[in-house]
Amino acid sequence: MDTGHPKHPVYVTRTVLPPLEEYLACVRQIFVSRWLTNQGAWVVRLEQELRRVLAVPTLAVCANGTLALQLALRLLGLNGKPVITTPFTYVATLSALLWEGCTPIFADIDPETLCLSPTALEEALVAHPDAAGILPVHVFGNACAVNSIQRLAEDRGLKVLYDAAHAFACRLNGQSLFSYGHATTASFHATKLFHTVEGGCVVTPHADDMKSLRLLRAFGQDGETYPCLGINAKMSELHAAMGICLLPKVPAFIEARKMRAELYDSALHMSASGLRKPTLAPGLQWNYAYYPVIFPDHAALCRALTALRRVNIYPRRYFYPSLTRLPYIQGQTCPVSEDIAERILCLPFWPELDPEVISLTATTICSCL
Ligand SMILES: Cc1ncc(COP(=O)(O)O)c(C=O)c1O
Repeated sequence: MDTGHPKHPVYVTRTVLPPLEEYLACVRQIFVSRWLTNQGAWVVRLEQELRRVLAVPTLAVCANGTLALQLALRLLGLNGKPVITTPFTYVATLSALLWEGCTPIFADIDPETLCLSPTALEEALVAHPDAAGILPVHVFGNACAVNSIQRLAEDRGLKVLYDAAHAFACRLNGQSLFSYGHATTASFHATKLFHTVEGGCVVTPHADDMKSLRLLRAFGQDGETYPCLGINAKMSELHAAMGICLLPKVPAFIEARKMRAELYDSALHMSASGLRKPTLAPGLQWNYAYYPVIFPDHAALCRALTALRRVNIYPRRYFYPSLTRLPYIQGQTCPVSEDIAERILCLPFWPELDPEVISLTATTICSCL
């Protein structure tokens, strides 16, 4: 930062890693065992630890968060059926639905929380009485309106699958955010708060779902029998070992992120600059997974992007465009999602981020407003 600009490009996130020696010690044990995949000791241990941390009875790790969604859709019998979801999420939520032959029906988001709006959901349920399930997303780790969603789903006997790719370790009124709905999935991609390089998991409140999940995840194979259609969605031992190394450090990552979020908060002068942040659900114990800011309009966001690029900072337009605007989606529109997608930016944010970069990012943005 001698010139006032970072020497290397600053992106929206930077992967956290354990000390190399710590990971190598695990890899050495895996090399000795020669057991690299197929429900090895490290996967079993990671599943146990995750069940404890997320306070859930059933959890199956898998190769990534997209496959986790696909496994969960199959587990709940939603494949091939109409499912109501949000247009303001990463494209993987949608691709999992389409890959499983579901018909996605978009309901708009709440402009404050950016999660599925219960009012829009209710309207979509009236307009689509054939919907079999709901796939809401805890966007940026914010909690969906879980009680309203549960009531609307129960009234109609619908399945609820939460995409909690961003919500690792979040709690709502003291309860794990992973304990709502019929199933919840997570992504453990290298960009996430907690990761296994590539990875994910499916969580359900029913201990007896574990057998079905294991079958779905491993070719539908049970010894020498093949009772159902499965896929290969297994996690390897090397990936699980990364998770075992990082999991105990998650509380420290959250603390470091919180400190950096507070630095952004004070440097951005939100109300004076016309910027705002999504409103967190009351009772949420947040994980500070992202630092999203909503600009007053699209032009202001574009000015900020140009100015930040000049100082070697490259934030990310999550989630742009609104999924309703994708070329392979026709005839659906969600005005709130489309408006927010045009003017939201996720600023550089990770546990070791240099406070000077935070200050430069904030002053550069404020100078454009
Ligand atoms: C909301 C959401 N769902 C699903 C996924 C897919 O996860 P993965 O990249 O592990 O397949 C992501 C990935 O970033 C995501 O942000």
